[in-house]
Amino acid sequence: MKNKLLITGGAGCLGSSIVDKYLSKGYTILVLDNFATGKKQNLPDTSNLRVVDGSVVDADLVNVLVKEFRPTIVINSAAAYKDPTNWREDVETNTIGSINIAKACLENGVEKIINFQTALNYGRPDTTPIPITAASKPFTSYGISKAAGEQFLLNSGLNVISLRLANICGPRLAIGPIPTFYTRLKEGKNCFCSDSLRDFLDMEDFLNILHIAITQQIPKGAYNVSTGVGSSIKEVFDEVVIHLGISAPEVPIVAVGADDVKEVVLDPSYTENIFNWKAKYNFKQTIKRQLEWYDKYGVTDIFSHLAVPKK
Ligand SMILES: NC(=O)c1ccc[n+]([C@@H]2O[C@H](COP(=O)([O-])OP(=O)(O)OC[C@H]3O[C@@H](n4cnc5c(N)ncnc54)[C@H](O)[C@@H]3O)[C@@H](O)[C@H]2O)c1
Repeated sequence: MKNKLLITGGAGCLGSSIVDKYLSKGYTILVLDNFATGKKQNLPDTSNLRVVDGSVVDADLVNVLVKEFRPTIVINSAAAYKDPTNWREDVETNTIGSINIAKACLENGVEKIINFQTALNYGRPDTTPIPITAASKPFTSYGISKAAGEQFLLNSGLNVISLRLANICGPRLAIGPIPTFYTRLKEGKNCFCSDSLRDFLDMEDFLNILHIAITQQIPKGAYNVSTGVGSSIKEVFDEVVIHLGISAPEVPIVAVGADDVKEVVLDPSYTENIFNWKAKYNFKQTIKRQLEWYDKYGVTDIFSHLAVPKK
């Protein structure tokens, strides 16, 4: 049987890297994307790829696409997050969209779904690194709506693997401190660092674990995907300063905002055992590879799922 992937949100950062990898492996791919944050130009023009400009919120469209295309696997990479006050849009895309995908797969005999989940699903965790068994305590619109979507998928009866992801760094990254510092420091603008800890995972490491999820029989359920090592935002700033070869400017360290979490470091140990996978790139290598990508291709957008700080 021909390998066929339906990728929702396939024009986004993760989706477009997945498209590139699996086109080169000879897969046939259908992308459904409304281009809220993704871009058409992220996708190549080739006969093995069909791109549908539409939304996962449209249940009939999702059902028709699954019925006609008959994917071997659906990868759910669509997500809404860019306006933290737009709760309705987040719920529509992240929760209702997930329901529509589950229903279409159930109706049309597609058994396997790979879903991507945010660490904000854990909210403010009690322990760091966060074990996969930690309670789901989201408190942001993005986190709440993604948590609900994941639960519908995991409880659908389908073979659902939900990868709970660290901050993935790679081509077209448009969110978080790395593109922000890179852009602002190049323009000679001031920066600040939130007093927080994050784990950063290289795109290649992410694509390697995704490949295992696509090609092997992995028990259904949720898995943390990360290095398990936390680095401060100031350390990211320092790496960007070194990379740009500028003299380090003064940078205030500010307390995390009310809508943010101080420490987000996922514990990947359970995942490492089940997948027989481990991240290859460490923090410094990952940031360096990201900055070299920006040197070559530039930063196009900068999005955030956090509210803009009040002046
Ligand atoms: N990149 C990361 O580090 C990271 C970390 C944790 C979780 N995730 C999850 O991984 C997935 C991909 O994230 P990303 O970083 O590529 O973000 P992204 O914004 O680049 O990609 C999301 C894509 O979904 C599309 N989209 C939004 N609403 C849609 C809708 N209603 N219908 C169809 N498409 C829609 C956007 O246009 C975009 O192309 C998301 O589910 C996100 O929650 C990513």
